[in-house]
Amino acid sequence: MSPLKKNFPHARILAIESSCDETAAAVLENGRVLLSSVVASQIDLHQQYGGVFPEVASRQHVRTIHAVVEQTLQQAHMNLENIDAIAVTRGPGLAGSLVVGVNMAKGMAMGSRLPLIGVNHLEGHIYSAWLYPSETPVPPPAPQFPLLALLVSGGHTELNLMRDHLQYERLGSTLDDAAGEAFDKVARLIGLPYPGGPSVQNAAAYGSKEAFHFPRAWMEGSSDFSFSGLKTSVLRTVRDLESQGKPLPVNDLAAGFQDAVVEVLFKKTMLAARKYNVKNIVVAGGVSANQALREAFLNQSEFTVFIPPLKYCTDNAAMIAAAGYYRFVHDKVDTLEFDVLPNWPLS
Ligand code: KG4
Ligand code: ZN
Repeated sequence: MSPLKKNFPHARILAIESSCDETAAAVLENGRVLLSSVVASQIDLHQQYGGVFPEVASRQHVRTIHAVVEQTLQQAHMNLENIDAIAVTRGPGLAGSLVVGVNMAKGMAMGSRLPLIGVNHLEGHIYSAWLYPSETPVPPPAPQFPLLALLVSGGHTELNLMRDHLQYERLGSTLDDAAGEAFDKVARLIGLPYPGGPSVQNAAAYGSKEAFHFPRAWMEGSSDFSFSGLKTSVLRTVRDLESQGKPLPVNDLAAGFQDAVVEVLFKKTMLAARKYNVKNIVVAGGVSANQALREAFLNQSEFTVFIPPLKYCTDNAAMIAAAGYYRFVHDKVDTLEFDVLPNWPLS
């Protein structure tokens, strides 16, 4: 790892995120202090399709990105002269959506001659654990290495061991559906709206997790995950109930499904944390907004667990700024020629 840039301990990063269906921009100082963060959600546009419609997403990014960047600079009371570098999500994500953010960032970097940093969206999710709002009176402690990062989003579910900044050793990942994808698919199966995660969580709050016991894929000795068997089991249960002409006990189905996902994510993460004797655990990505998952980690006392505040769990640009800062101070700056990487792995 290269030494930190001495001239930039308080570097300010302007970041842009447009990998999926949120258009976002943020200004961050010092890798941790959030000066402003703006997220324009497209959920309303995609709800009618039951999922993200890629062309609709990229065209909406084109419409809103200028206003979102402008607004975040205004909220931070800054212009580009106060910024030290521009970070942007380079991948993974939808190609047409990524291109909009990357082109905006390139244009701004070219016009202002600021350094440009392409950030991996998954790396961003992990670095959301370092963020705190500028009005926080006492800076909270930062995660310590070695740490174990459970990354659970709509497209990814993986466990990474980090021995230092920007170093990822993938211990395991999902062999089929991502955890968020399973939430979204099961929501559709039981008639709940997109996005599935919050809908299932809300329904589960009124159900009993004991009413249905769905299977857990433990895969003993491995840090990989699998959620397709669980999804199929929910599907079979729904078909059985429908063929008997019974109304779907949506809340109980949601509670049983959520309990299965949470138990597997929690227990497998704890096993890996013990095995690698880590100092801290980070839980990040859209599914880390799930209340039952948060409670499982926060109710144990074996490890100190960092889970970002709810608004930084789902996609935002503050997390891209945080990862961008650590890339910047470790001299990992890009040139204007880089292309988007829709399937960019973290490790
Ligand atoms: O990180 P994210 O915003 O986008 C990706 O990078 O994929 O994650 C979105 C995923 C969706 O699958 C959504 O259903 C899930 O996160 N999600 C949740 C919750 N909030 C969002 N899953 C479970 N419980 C939640 N409260
Ligand atoms: Zn994400």
